[in-house]
Amino acid sequence: MESCIRLSSVVRSTGRALSTAAGRQQRALVAEAGVFTDQEKQTEEKHIRKNFEDVQKERQNQGRHSVLIGCPPKVNENKFLKYLSQHGKVANHFFFSSNSTNAVVEFVDAESIDSLLAATKIPTDEDMCVVPFKSRFIKIKAKDLDQHSVQCCPQSSIAFSDLIEKLCTGESIEDQAQILLEELQLTEESIRLRYLVSTLISDIATAYFPEASVSLYGSSVNSFGKMGCDLDLFLDLESLKGHRTGKQAGGSITTEFWMRRVSSRRAAQQKILSVIGECLDGFGPGCIEVQKILNARCPLVRFSHQAAGLPCDLTADNRIALTSSELLYIYGNIDSRVRALVFALRSWARVHGITSSIPGHWITNFSLTTMILFFLQKRTPPVIPTLDQLKSLAGKKDKCIIEGNDCTFIRDLNKVKPSANTEPLATLLIEFLEFYGKFDFKTHCIDIRKGTEKNKPESSPLYIQNPFEQTLNISKNVNQSQVHRFVDIAQESAFILQDQMSQSSKSKNPWGLASILLSSSTENSSTTKKKKKVEARERIVSLLESLRNKDNSGKTDVKPEAEH
Ligand code: GTP
Ligand code: MG
Repeated sequence: MESCIRLSSVVRSTGRALSTAAGRQQRALVAEAGVFTDQEKQTEEKHIRKNFEDVQKERQNQGRHSVLIGCPPKVNENKFLKYLSQHGKVANHFFFSSNSTNAVVEFVDAESIDSLLAATKIPTDEDMCVVPFKSRFIKIKAKDLDQHSVQCCPQSSIAFSDLIEKLCTGESIEDQAQILLEELQLTEESIRLRYLVSTLISDIATAYFPEASVSLYGSSVNSFGKMGCDLDLFLDLESLKGHRTGKQAGGSITTEFWMRRVSSRRAAQQKILSVIGECLDGFGPGCIEVQKILNARCPLVRFSHQAAGLPCDLTADNRIALTSSELLYIYGNIDSRVRALVFALRSWARVHGITSSIPGHWITNFSLTTMILFFLQKRTPPVIPTLDQLKSLAGKKDKCIIEGNDCTFIRDLNKVKPSANTEPLATLLIEFLEFYGKFDFKTHCIDIRKGTEKNKPESSPLYIQNPFEQTLNISKNVNQSQVHRFVDIAQESAFILQDQMSQSSKSKNPWGLASILLSSSTENSSTTKKKKKVEARERIVSLLESLRNKDNSGKTDVKPEAEH
């Protein structure tokens, strides 16, 4: 992996260093004491202090300076670079393979891209007609190059069996969680590719709305992104609204744009997304399988970026979701145990079918992450502050009201004090499973704003208060049987880990995190078999429902529809 990276900076925006076995061993030694080495502290300090907005700007800038190049299966890397450097200095590049071999090339200057595009031909096709839309996704043809295979950076995560094998080499649960994090988290290349795709989509949107921008939200940016996760994009039209950009001449006369009026904000979103969806379908660079899902609670355009191998969701005017991503980013970077725990538990939930890629009555990754944050707020002393505490630290610049909702919280990570809690990750993992194994879901609601349980305002089986739109439940979609399953599996996994902890040596393999990622010991019991049948039936019903909805009205069950 390392050898294929030709990046001048291999620092992950949200990741951690010390990926070697020696590093892990060293960490294992200090993990028991709940302290970090000096080297780790320095690495942490260097990387966690960047604010969300600064990271976004920096990454978007990289994306804007980059081109996506479809390559022949074999290409001579030196000649490839030599050709490109005729147009300007190349800052970074890497190859990756999805359906075919591709490269991402970042130039130092934006003018180099103009020069490259000016030298790029519009293809001719004898049988078909081409739509001459120019973009930063081009193809390179290498006729007379002596061709070699290039090393491609992986764009998908490690196979499950290999992951389990690797986890078993860990010296402690802490160590295992770190291995899992390093194996599953988004790589530097995947992050760069995601931003590049967002700028390609942005180029289409800004052809209509020059002041609009396309931003990333969700797990691609909230520090909990796993290789292969979807790319959540939103078209930000905020800068278009209500601001006069030029000077109005004095006196009693003012000017305004002639603009079409529609009945609601939602209707405006639908109109805009419909047009952008049409463009993506007609000539979006690399976009396939475009679906306009405009009747969903939050209208969206869903498509795949074929070359990048990314499923994408584009919404409009979704600033609260971006703010939720920023909040999660802050939590993910306040304390290194947060990401490690979230990655471990997201993987655990996925293998047990607690979460699913199919929309339905399952707990979503977003809800699960919120539950983990709530648990961490409840430790003594707390591992992370509550949202109200983050709000109390906010300065003038942090004040933020979106659609009447108070979204104020401190944005500067440097101003959040480190936690006094030093519990090892293994303890937190077991305690999480125990905490929710006996949580009173019937009566209580989860609220990360206050960090305390309170009575549920209504009878949903799982009530997780939306941190910003406080009258909403982000887990409205979850049914009773899914809550029961979650509780049962949490209890069972806690039992497995406690049992292992009580034995002096690791007598069994797989052990620790690996053991709870594999099917439990009671997997073959008749109750488990029955549960699995019910689960399979529920999945089929849910899938059929979503297909029916799509056929009937173009509507499907998407994330923000979870709440009411
Ligand atoms: P992945 O499963 O890795 O894609 O995690 P994700 O966090 O990206 O989740 P998803 O793609 O389902 O949603 C993207 C973002 O939309 C989340 O990070 C949240 O910010 C927001 N979101 C998702 N579900 C809800 C919901 O039910 N209510 C609200 N208000 N926001 C949601
Ligand atoms: Mg997502």
